[in-house]
Amino acid sequence: MSKTYKITVMPGDGIGAEVMAESIKLLDALSARLGFKFEYNEQAAGGAAIDKYNDPMPDSVIAACKLSDATLLGAMGGPKWDHHTGAMRPESGLLKIRKELGVFANLRPVSVPAALADSSPLRPEAVSGVDLLTVRELIGGIYFGKPVGNDGFEAFNTMRYTVPEIERVARVAFEWARKRRNKVTSVDKANVLDVSRLWRDTVKQLHAAEFSDVELNHLYIDNATMQVVLNPRQFDVILTSNLFGDILSDTTATLGGSLGLLPSASLGTKYGLFEPVHGSAPDIAGQGKANPVAMILSSSMMLDFLGETKAAAAIRKGYEAALAQGLRTADLWREGYKKASTSEMGRVICEETLKSL
Ligand code: IPM
Ligand code: MN
Repeated sequence: MSKTYKITVMPGDGIGAEVMAESIKLLDALSARLGFKFEYNEQAAGGAAIDKYNDPMPDSVIAACKLSDATLLGAMGGPKWDHHTGAMRPESGLLKIRKELGVFANLRPVSVPAALADSSPLRPEAVSGVDLLTVRELIGGIYFGKPVGNDGFEAFNTMRYTVPEIERVARVAFEWARKRRNKVTSVDKANVLDVSRLWRDTVKQLHAAEFSDVELNHLYIDNATMQVVLNPRQFDVILTSNLFGDILSDTTATLGGSLGLLPSASLGTKYGLFEPVHGSAPDIAGQGKANPVAMILSSSMMLDFLGETKAAAAIRKGYEAALAQGLRTADLWREGYKKASTSEMGRVICEETLKSL
């Protein structure tokens, strides 16, 4: 009996559908070759769900995600829905699905293979070989803290964390570090914020109690943002809160020259949500310019989560082989490289992935 995985697929808005299509082709090719199956359940999300249900994340969509083995998400939002406020915003739908699935740890890996080093805005010798993983807390902190309010004159949000919330995400970071280069850098603003002082103390205590074999250091967010640019190779695992992780992960994304390369996995104790870090890029939607790599690498993270580690690794090899061939989508293309559309890039990654098996 071959194994069948139920996958909820939410292409979302803008370039979401194009990049998702490339991922699905690749997943189908892999499953046909390796003898497992995917059963897809497509659902609207974000702007598409506002159009269909007048709700960016209806409970029925969340229920579908909870019934599946994993969820793939393209991107959400766009100018068409920008006039919406509060819970009707596509972004609110994204926060809702993360919260409902309890995916408190958001993994955002960045590596710069040699073939990409000269696409970076930084010197190739500074970025070549970078391999870091940001573990961002995803369902707490200032994104969700109460009280929150805006009376038109004064507005406020609240950055709150409890010890158990900090511990559970820190544990994920330490565990990943053990599988990688055994180093965690925890990023906070403990020189100013009480919530960061609790963060730092909690990380230190957990480290002493359970992870003293892992190297741990602490940086303030302002310094960390600078260090990521000055000397990105010093980082292995970066552990940080929701807001700081949002900012820092966009910074790390530039190391390889494009946000279009950065995948993510959001994990809790049960569910997995896999989405590229980039947005819906409405300005280039439908033109074959989108880079499918972030979505494809997100699918590879999903395969790891499902236990299909061989397929997951094959995708990473396929991606590097496509780069080594000189193929670049519009975001990364320069003189001397072969310009690829979204689907050409997807096709070559797929061919190379299968070849590597
Ligand atoms: C991200 C995005 C989201 C976030 C937005 C769209 C809500 O920027 O996933 O990084 O801030 O988490
Ligand atoms: Mn972001």
